[in-house]
Amino acid sequence: MRVLVVGSGGREHVLTWKLRQSPRVQKVYCAPGNAGIAQEAECVPIAAEDIDALVAFARQEKIDLTVVGPEAPLTLGIVDAFTAAGLAIFGPMQEAARLEGSKVFAKQLMEKYKIPTAESRSFTNVEEALTYLQEKEAPIVVKADGLAAGKGVVVAATLAEAEDAVRRMLVEEEFGAAGSRIIIEEYLQGEEVTILAFTDGETIIPMVSSQDHKAAYDGDKGPNTGGMGAYSPAPVLTKELLAQVEREILQPTILGLRAEGITYKGVLYAGLMITENGPKVLEYNVRFGDPECQVILPPLKTDLCTIMLAVINGTLAKTQIEWHDNHTVCVVMASGGYPLSYQKGKVITGLDEAAMLQDVYVFHAGTAKEGNQLVTSGGRVLGVTAWGDKLTDALDKAYQAVEIINFAGAHYRHDIGQKALRHQIMNCSFRA
Ligand code: AMP
Ligand code: GLY
Repeated sequence: MRVLVVGSGGREHVLTWKLRQSPRVQKVYCAPGNAGIAQEAECVPIAAEDIDALVAFARQEKIDLTVVGPEAPLTLGIVDAFTAAGLAIFGPMQEAARLEGSKVFAKQLMEKYKIPTAESRSFTNVEEALTYLQEKEAPIVVKADGLAAGKGVVVAATLAEAEDAVRRMLVEEEFGAAGSRIIIEEYLQGEEVTILAFTDGETIIPMVSSQDHKAAYDGDKGPNTGGMGAYSPAPVLTKELLAQVEREILQPTILGLRAEGITYKGVLYAGLMITENGPKVLEYNVRFGDPECQVILPPLKTDLCTIMLAVINGTLAKTQIEWHDNHTVCVVMASGGYPLSYQKGKVITGLDEAAMLQDVYVFHAGTAKEGNQLVTSGGRVLGVTAWGDKLTDALDKAYQAVEIINFAGAHYRHDIGQKALRHQIMNCSFRA
């Protein structure tokens, strides 16, 4: 089979890497890709949102399967366009992608189908939003309705901060149209966990759990980022809790959409808070997470290409999905200054040495080739990924590789996976 991966980050690198391992796959293209992806696939200079050009390319190159990484083309209707052209593509249709494209849409679905989530209200009028805030207490959360590259959520520690966020979104239009409608929602306390599931709109198969590290600095301090690292599995999601998540969240989401006339196919991403009152939805995404994908796909035993075709063909019920029983960690190395402003073009060294380490793989997120040198070209630069029988083994190997790799201004979190280690210590002392 000939496969096309759409996107250019760490998620698309791991998708390319995994699909290349499939005995069914002969050739992988990536549009537009990055310098790391170029080492294992043929990169084509077409932007992920240029749907017409992607359809034309897929037709011309007789692509058998297209896999979409990021949300933007999904919300723009790439799956509808490929399907109309008779081309097989993995991901939800435009209408289903609204689950990520509009937080108001997602909230309405959750309310209607009694899916546990934070209590909230939506506003377009600034005065009404500010009056509502007067009745509330901090901390409180303000969210832009539309896509804002992970920056449209403000967890406000004070009401003044919340008011400021409301004004920035509704009056100053900091997020443009994405922030012309906002949600004000209850602050949920607990530990976060991500659960992704493959679904063909009928059958839902959860993947191994994972935990992202959204804050820029150690100890969950600093501004939110796209994700500074991840690990899998996440011990906070026990077997019992996973069963509850399937029953109370994943199934009613997919069945609720069906009742609305929407068949959801692809990956459903549920960002959850495990609260005192059980798991609640923080957000849905309609694609693999980044960097969650980097820790979820390495331990996948079953052929990814086969799973994706089963999703597209609606035969997931007949597909067994198996995972290795190990631990995976991804430490993101970012450009100095990220997620605020940062410089590009810094030379990256040490990748060849890091590649010699066992059970380590460095996925590229924001890299480019300049002559013979590899340079930084984005905020998140590399996803240094490692696996092992124990979480501590995986962490040791990942950080060993991080120590070897260098670029000016590189910053990364030193505490990836620490929450999981705390759970492990607690479980041991309970058993003792
Ligand atoms: P979202 O993009 O909606 O997942 O929000 C980004 C991050 O903001 C989440 O990963 C949480 O850390 C935090 N967050 C979002 N909503 C809430 C909430 N209701 N209570 C507490 N934290 C939240
Ligand atoms: N890591 C969070 C996301 O992919 O949205």
